[in-house]
Amino acid sequence: MRVSTQSNLAAVTLAFALSVTSAAGEITDAARSKNSTWMASSIMSRSQGIMTGKGGSSELLQAGITQRALTALAAQYPDDAFTSDVKAYVLSSACSVSPFLQNASYDALSYPLDRLSNGHALLDYSAPTDNMTSGPGSFAGAAVALRDSIDYNRRNDEGGLWYFTYPQWSYLDGMYSLAPFYVRYHVEAETAYPIPAWKQATLAAVNDTYHQIDLLWSHTRNASSGLLAHGYDASRTAVWADPDTGASPHVWGRSLGWYAMALVDTLEVLPDSASEYRDLILEKWNSLASAVVKAVDPTTGGWWQILDEPGREGNYIESSGSAMFAYALLKGTRLGYFATNADLASTAVDAAIRGHEYLTDTFVVRETNGTLGYNGTVSVCSLNSTATYEYYVGQPINYNSVLGSAAYILASLEVERLAAL
Ligand SMILES: *[C@@H]1O[C@H](CO)[C@@H](O)[C@H](O)[C@H]1NC(C)=O
Ligand SMILES: *[C@@H]1O[C@H](CO)[C@@H](O)[C@H](O)[C@H]1NC(C)=O
Ligand SMILES: *[C@@H]1O[C@H](CO)[C@@H](O)[C@H](O)[C@H]1NC(C)=O
Ligand SMILES: *[C@@H]1O[C@H](CO)[C@@H](O)[C@H](O)[C@H]1NC(C)=O
Ligand SMILES: *[C@@H]1O[C@H](CO)[C@@H](O)[C@H](O)[C@H]1NC(C)=O
Ligand SMILES: *[C@@H]1O[C@H](CO)[C@@H](O)[C@H](O)[C@H]1NC(C)=O
Ligand SMILES: *[C@@H]1O[C@H](CO)[C@@H](O)[C@H](O)[C@H]1NC(C)=O
Ligand SMILES: *[C@@H]1O[C@H](CO)[C@@H](O)[C@H](O)[C@H]1NC(C)=O
Repeated sequence: MRVSTQSNLAAVTLAFALSVTSAAGEITDAARSKNSTWMASSIMSRSQGIMTGKGGSSELLQAGITQRALTALAAQYPDDAFTSDVKAYVLSSACSVSPFLQNASYDALSYPLDRLSNGHALLDYSAPTDNMTSGPGSFAGAAVALRDSIDYNRRNDEGGLWYFTYPQWSYLDGMYSLAPFYVRYHVEAETAYPIPAWKQATLAAVNDTYHQIDLLWSHTRNASSGLLAHGYDASRTAVWADPDTGASPHVWGRSLGWYAMALVDTLEVLPDSASEYRDLILEKWNSLASAVVKAVDPTTGGWWQILDEPGREGNYIESSGSAMFAYALLKGTRLGYFATNADLASTAVDAAIRGHEYLTDTFVVRETNGTLGYNGTVSVCSLNSTATYEYYVGQPINYNSVLGSAAYILASLEVERLAAL
């Protein structure tokens, strides 16, 4: 038993003695029968989403979203022959990040909020039903450290979590990694240890999660378009900060994509005890989804890199943000999050299916060796920049970025569910 310093989780931890090898090599005909499995096996053949510590500032996010997409795939196709390889790959990705994430205060200072995207796989493999022993280097140890790193993360005066090292800056991007993990962690802890203190901790975590969502909303939302800018500076001193709200000037597709996925994935894990928050998040999600559907490019069906400046010179349809919107809209519909808005549900599904078709036709590349590539994903866009229009449209395109291809898997899984109905 290991007791965490901050959140006091009586965590039982799993010491893993693993020698996991990734499933590399040939793409089987079975894997090629679906976009999701084909892209997944291609990512695996490229050994992507495995942390080396040398892959730059977005390595933890790359691992985290790869784990999320592959885990969703394994859950959707439990009986496919390919699924055991997929699960082994998720495990090897979790193994690769675990040693980097054992120290909560270090994690909070050294990595952006994106680090938290890895928490799900770590929790999956340290479930209370597993055979657990305590010890450093363990998955549960990393999951607890990640949770505690939220308490060490620096915040602005309104309680908004800094995205990373930049004083007072909060970004939409961080929400995908923070929100669903933060809530899920507490729901599982409370289930494992049903005591009043844990029940209160869950509600506090849900409250804090909603507070983060809401701060970003109130600082960055453009009331006329309904879209949210990339982030805000609570001190209003950054060169790009709006003097009133602190908001950055542009609506960056992928950052809003992260935020949209965060809302849907958080709704999915919210406990029944949090119905008040469910209503608040649903209200935001319905409003945002409607703005996202309105912002779709009518000609192609994709979404622009700078979402609210369609057709401006240099702007283009970006393949990671577009896949994230397609996923969020389809999953949001499937889980009934537009239940009070049948028109929105139907336009959301149409837009997402059309968007996915466009992504498949335009950005999915069939390589001669049988793998799929994924094109059109912008590399990192940081607010540690001028944050001008020219900056966003001038950032390079990364071929085979998992930030795009893993989101494409998530969108494809939703499309495949519909096709199977
Ligand atoms: C991939 O998606 C496209 C667009 O939705 C679809 O037409 C195609 O049949 C899918 N491919 C496979 C292998 O399922
Ligand atoms: C397949 O070909 C692509 C494009 O040349 C390359 O990036 C990828 O690494 C190859 N995959 C394998 C498993 O050889
Ligand atoms: C955790 O990280 C902090 C901050 O970097 C450091 O001061 C501390 O010694 C570390 N703790 C352990 C057990 O390594
Ligand atoms: C749990 O661990 C013990 C001690 O290492 C081992 O004997 C036992 O077989 C394990 N049980 C399972 C279900 O893995
Ligand atoms: C969250 O907690 C704070 C502090 O207790 C409270 O003021 C706020 O109303 C809560 N938020 C919601 C949405 O209930
Ligand atoms: C808000 O959106 C509208 C419509 O897209 C746009 O004309 C306006 O410039 C935006 N305002 C800000 C502050 O970005
Ligand atoms: C990716 O897209 C760019 C821009 O359209 C194009 O120049 C490049 O050839 C594409 N790469 C592949 C492998 O299709
Ligand atoms: C922020 O940008 C400056 C100027 O380009 C650069 O020197 C610095 O390393 C960047 N900060 C981080 C944490 O990447």
